[in-house]
Amino acid sequence: MASKISAVILSLSFFSSFVAISSQNDEYDPTIKTMEQFSGYQIHDSISSLSVHTQNLQRQIDELSSFSDTPAPSVTRVLYSEKDVLARGYIKKLMGLSGLSVREDAVGNIFGRWVGSQPELAPVLTGSHIDAIPYSGKYDGVVGVLGAIEAINVLKRSGFKPKRSLEVIMFTSEEPTRFGISCLGSRLLAGSEELKELLKKTVDSQNISFSDAATFAGYTLNEDLSSVFLEKGSYSAFIELHIEQGPILEEEGISIGIVTAIAAPASIKVDFEGNGGHAGAVLMPKRNDAGLAAAELALAVEKHVLESGSIDTVGTVGILELHPGAINSIPSKSHLEIDTRDIDEKRRNLVIEKIHKSALRISKSREVNLSEFKIVNQDPPALSEDSIIEATESACQELKLSYKKMISRAYHDSLFMARISPMGMIFIPCYKGYSHKPEEFAAPEDVANGVKVLALTLGKLSLS
Ligand SMILES: *[C@@H]1O[C@H](CO)[C@@H](O)[C@H](O)[C@H]1NC(C)=O
Ligand SMILES: *[C@@H]1O[C@H](CO)[C@@H](O)[C@H](O)[C@H]1NC(C)=O
Ligand SMILES: [Zn+2]
Repeated sequence: MASKISAVILSLSFFSSFVAISSQNDEYDPTIKTMEQFSGYQIHDSISSLSVHTQNLQRQIDELSSFSDTPAPSVTRVLYSEKDVLARGYIKKLMGLSGLSVREDAVGNIFGRWVGSQPELAPVLTGSHIDAIPYSGKYDGVVGVLGAIEAINVLKRSGFKPKRSLEVIMFTSEEPTRFGISCLGSRLLAGSEELKELLKKTVDSQNISFSDAATFAGYTLNEDLSSVFLEKGSYSAFIELHIEQGPILEEEGISIGIVTAIAAPASIKVDFEGNGGHAGAVLMPKRNDAGLAAAELALAVEKHVLESGSIDTVGTVGILELHPGAINSIPSKSHLEIDTRDIDEKRRNLVIEKIHKSALRISKSREVNLSEFKIVNQDPPALSEDSIIEATESACQELKLSYKKMISRAYHDSLFMARISPMGMIFIPCYKGYSHKPEEFAAPEDVANGVKVLALTLGKLSLS
C-alpha cells in the first residue's frame, strides 16, 4: 500500500511541476494562482484531511426529505411536482454554495461543474437522482447527489485541485412513477431516439402531457429533446454512489461495495382472452379460463428462470389482474406483467424466449387468445470499467475501509450512462437492505465512508 501512495505522490508532484512550467507561458491564465497554491499539495496529507462534514450532510438529507407529498418518515417526490421543483432548487443552491457552475438541460438534468486545470479534457461525472416513489425513504438516490456535492467539498477543503473538471449531476426521474418511464433523464442523455419520440405523446395518469408537466416545473421543451443527448466520450468516467438496497454489506459488516456489473432488466406485458361465463353454469370441459392461463404462465416464468441454473437469473410476476374480477364469474381476460433480469444478457433473453413459447403453448392448450405479448424493455447489462473499479479499490485500501466487489441487481442511471461513458458504482450498507419504504436507513458513518471513497476516487480519476 505504501508504494501505491508514493506512486500517487509522484504523479501529483509531477503534475504540479508540469503546471508550474506551463503556467509561465501564459501570464493571464486565471488558474495560475490556484496551481501555485496546489504545488504544495501532497496526497498523504490529504488522506487524513479528507474530512466529511457528517452532521451537515445528515442535516441536508433530512431537509431534502421534507420536500415530500406524504408525511415523514415517508418521502414521496414525483417528477415535476411542486415538491420536486423545491427540491431541485435546494440542490442547485447547494451546488452554488460549493462553488460549482450550474446548468440544466431541457428535461431538468442538473449539472454542477468544478472546472479543472485542463478543462479541455473530458470531465469526470458523478451523481444520482432525488425523485422518490410514493411512501419511500430519504436515502435512495439522495446519498449519491448530496454525497457527491459533499465529496466535492471534501476535496476542496483538502486543498485538492482537479486536472479534469469534476461534475455533479442530479438526474431527472430515475423512478417511473409519473410517466411509467424509469431512468428518463439518463436514457435521454445516452441518446435514446425512441424515448425522445415517445415523450412527445406521453401523458400521466391525469392526462397531463410530459411537456405540460415540464413547463409547470420551469422547463420549456420547445427545443428538440435531442439537445439533451450527450456524445459518447463527453465524460472520461461516470461514478454513482448509492445505498445497496440489499442486505449483503450490512450482514457481512463491510463498509463499501464496488459494483462490477449491473444486471440487465427486461419487462413483458401479457394479455390472455377467453370467453368468461357464469361460475356455476359453465361446466369445466367447456371453459377457456383466462385466469388459469395467467396462473400457468406465472408458474412457467418461475420454471424457466430456475432452468437457467444461475443464481443471477431472476423473474417476477408482480402484476396479475383478472377481469371482470367477480367471485362468480370465470375470468374472461387476464393481464400479467413480468420482470426478468440477469447479468448475462443471452441467458436472460433465452428466458424471455421460453416465456413466449410457454404463453403460446398455454393459449393453445387452454383455447384462450394470447392477445398481447409485448416486451416493454429489454436492456443490456452494464459492466463497470476496470480502471474505475481499480481507482475505487485503491481508494478503499488507502482509507483502510473494508470492501467487496458485487453485482447490482437493481438498476440505476449508471446502466444507461454506461452506454456513453466508462462507468462505476459505489455501494454503502443500508439497514436490513430496506429500500423504497419509509424504514430505509443508512448510518451517517456509512454515508461518510461512501463520500470519502467517492472523493478520493474522483480525485484519482481527475488526475488520470
Ligand atoms: C387527454 O387530453 C387530450 C388532449 O388534451 C384529449 O384530446 C383527450 O381526449 C384526453 N383524454 C382523456 C382520456 O381524457
Ligand atoms: C380469439 O381470436 C379469434 C380470432 O381473432 C376470435 O375469432 C375468437 O373469438 C377469439 N376467442 C376468444 C376466446 O376471445
Ligand atoms: Zn436509486
